[in-house]
Amino acid sequence: MWNPETYLRFADERGRPFQDLLARVLAEQPRQVVDLGCGPGNLTATLAARWPGAQVSGVDSSVEMIDKALADQGGPGPVAYRVGDVRDYLPGPEVDVIVTNAVLQWVPGQEELVGRWARALRPGSWLALQVPGNHDNPAHRALRELCLTSRWSALLGEIGEQTRSVPGPQEYARLLRAGGCTADTWETTYVHQLPVTGGPHPVLTWLTGTALRPVRAALAATPGAWEAYCADLEPALADAYPADGDVVDFPFRRVFAVGRRTAETP
Ligand SMILES: C[S@@+](CC[C@H](N)C(=O)[O-])C[C@H]1O[C@@H](n2cnc3c(N)ncnc32)[C@H](O)[C@@H]1O
Repeated sequence: MWNPETYLRFADERGRPFQDLLARVLAEQPRQVVDLGCGPGNLTATLAARWPGAQVSGVDSSVEMIDKALADQGGPGPVAYRVGDVRDYLPGPEVDVIVTNAVLQWVPGQEELVGRWARALRPGSWLALQVPGNHDNPAHRALRELCLTSRWSALLGEIGEQTRSVPGPQEYARLLRAGGCTADTWETTYVHQLPVTGGPHPVLTWLTGTALRPVRAALAATPGAWEAYCADLEPALADAYPADGDVVDFPFRRVFAVGRRTAETP
C-alpha cells in the first residue's frame, strides 16, 4: 500500500527528475498523453498544463494514489485518472506520449514491457521513462542486509533477497532501438539535501515513502516490529549519511530514457 502523504514529503526532490525527463520530450501538440504509475498526480497535472490540447490520463495500481490525485484535482478535470496495472497497458493509435516516472523499478520483466510499448507506438510518438538506479547505494544495501540477518530473516528474508537492479542507460538505449525508436538515455546523480528535523534520520524518512514500504507491510502484523526494524537500520544510515549542520547529503542516482518511434515496424 502506498501512502501519498509520506511519498509527497519530498515532492520537490522527487519531482525534479520528472521535469528533467520531460525536457527531452519535444512533442508539440500530442493528442493523448498517458502517465503510467502516476502516483498522487501532482506531476501528471504538469503534463496537462504543458499540453492543454491533449487528453491526459494517469494510471496507477494504488487506489490510495488515485484517490489522492482525484481529490487534489477536485474530481473529474483535465486529467482522467484510473486504477490499473501498467503491465496491462498498450498504447492506442492516438497516444503520442507515454511517460512513466519512478515506476518500472517495481515491475519485474520491465525490459519486455518497454520493448512492447516502443513497438506499439505510432511513428513520431514518444516514450519517456525514469527509474532510480540506487540499488547499490549504502542505504539500499543496508536495508537489504538487515533483512537477511538472523534477527529479521524469518519475516523479511524474501525482501532481502530481492536484488533487482534496473537497466543502465546503455541497456535502455538498446531496448529502445530494438523497438524501432531513437534513443536518448543518460544518468544523473542528484545530491538531495535532506533537512535534519530532530526526528528519525532523514534518509530513513525518505525510504519510508518508497523502498521500505514492502518491509513495513511485511511487519504490519507483528506489534512493535516496524519500530524495532527502523531502530536497527538507523545507525547504518547515520554512519553512511552523516549530518552537515542541519542537512544530510543524500546522493541519488537516476536513469533516464527517452525514445521517439521512427519506423512502422522495428
Ligand atoms: C515512486 S511512485 C512514482 C509516482 C509518480 N510517477 C511520481 O513520479 O511521483 C511509484 C508508483 O508506481 C505505482 N506502481 C507500481 N507498480 C505498478 C504497476 N504494476 N501498475 C501501476 N502502477 C504501479 C505505485 O502505486 C506508485 O504510485
